Amino acid sequence: MTAGGLGAQAASAERRERSPRATEGLGAAEAPRLITELPGPKAREVLERDGRTTSPSLPRAYPFVPARGAGSVLEDVDGNRFLDLNAGIAVTSTGHCHPLVVEAVQRQAGELLHYSASDFYLPIYSELAERLDEVAPMAGPTRAFLTNSGTEAVEASIKLARWSTGRQYVIAFYGSFHGRSYGSVSLTASKATYRAGFGPLLPGALHAYYGDGRDLPGGVPEAAEGFPTIDHIEHFVMQRIVAPDEVAAVVVEPVLGEGGYIVPPDGWLAALRELCDRHGILLVCDEVQSGMGRTGKMWAVEHMGVEPDILIAGKGIASGMPLGAMIAKDAVMTWTKGTHGSTFGGNPLSCAAAIATLDVIRDEELLEQAAKIGDSLKNGLQDLQTRREAIRDVRGVGLMIGIDLPDHDAAAAVERAAFDRGLLVLGCGERAIRMSPPLVITEEQARTGLEVFEEAVAEVST
Ligand SMILES: Cc1ncc(COP(=O)(O)O)c(C=O)c1O
Repeated sequence: MTAGGLGAQAASAERRERSPRATEGLGAAEAPRLITELPGPKAREVLERDGRTTSPSLPRAYPFVPARGAGSVLEDVDGNRFLDLNAGIAVTSTGHCHPLVVEAVQRQAGELLHYSASDFYLPIYSELAERLDEVAPMAGPTRAFLTNSGTEAVEASIKLARWSTGRQYVIAFYGSFHGRSYGSVSLTASKATYRAGFGPLLPGALHAYYGDGRDLPGGVPEAAEGFPTIDHIEHFVMQRIVAPDEVAAVVVEPVLGEGGYIVPPDGWLAALRELCDRHGILLVCDEVQSGMGRTGKMWAVEHMGVEPDILIAGKGIASGMPLGAMIAKDAVMTWTKGTHGSTFGGNPLSCAAAIATLDVIRDEELLEQAAKIGDSLKNGLQDLQTRREAIRDVRGVGLMIGIDLPDHDAAAAVERAAFDRGLLVLGCGERAIRMSPPLVITEEQARTGLEVFEEAVAEVST
């Protein structure tokens, strides 16, 4: 323990005094408004304390220090206003502090904060499971296991797939991100940093090439019949490395998130589904980033006409409260009493936020909104691409949009130049910027976002 906690104590006292309605009016703002240099004086204090006290492993992107938010707008500790095209990394699906989500959490907090759903029967846990079943992309009945995060839901899916098939191997994809705990990081293959120094990882985790094969040695094969990456699994991985009847599951992101916001070619996921069916392998779709309406449908797999056996949800599921879900076909989730559980998973506050999130997505027609604004944002970026040579590719579905720049340094420079103008975007993949705003973003805010993004690209191009 060290002396010097006064800054933190003062911050806590100030927080207690602040009006609970401090975000009123903020969400309607259309443009960023900067009133200090960045980071400002209060932000610098936080950075200083943080630098002394928190884990140096945290991969901070730039010195943004948020204090409050509403809709797609955030204010930092110095009163600077930012337009948020990150949504806290694809989390605040209904926007920051949606009043109905906040109210649901407050009401639940006044009634019951916790009682372990693993050992007893929380009504709100099964209520949410029923609501998830209603929106699950599977035709038959499903069951849900709730967690505190995406990575725990991925862990649960590895365990369930092994348990229910009696097989050991799991195939994931180069470029994918499934989390950082041991099972999920063994599947993650987007950056070596996530794995370096932590081996040995989970035995039985194998990798194959994703989508159009851009990671294949030699790049995307020219005008091939079928899908070379699926052929590679069948004729290489399953011939040389693992017999198909030893593979429990293929775990796949229907749209790559952290790995670059990459959409696989039409028909690719269906071909993967068909390969799994032929060999009795479970298809696990990780929709932690692409789910909850981000792509303009509740789940990205719905664009692809594919039913997973197990669906993983997280991030946007509870608009910012910590929650993950493993949703599996009833016929797959057959594991028996005591095989898996969690003290906090499916915490009542997070469940209340998730139910409110589902209500808001339905009542405010946010799927339609995400599809519509996603299209205009993507069209605007494609238009920008014709004017700015630095923009090499624009891709995505709905409000999950990736923009390639010439290299990693250029992407990092655009990210920073945008921040310096009050626009929050984030890098992904080798050289991309991702845009994943709250689903409630307005046309005007999206237009402003485009203008500021163009200025950031222009600064870096000159
Ligand atoms: C596709 C995907 N799966 C899993 C995870 C892990 O989720 P969490 O960070 O909540 O553990 C992430 C997080 O970025 C993700 O994007």
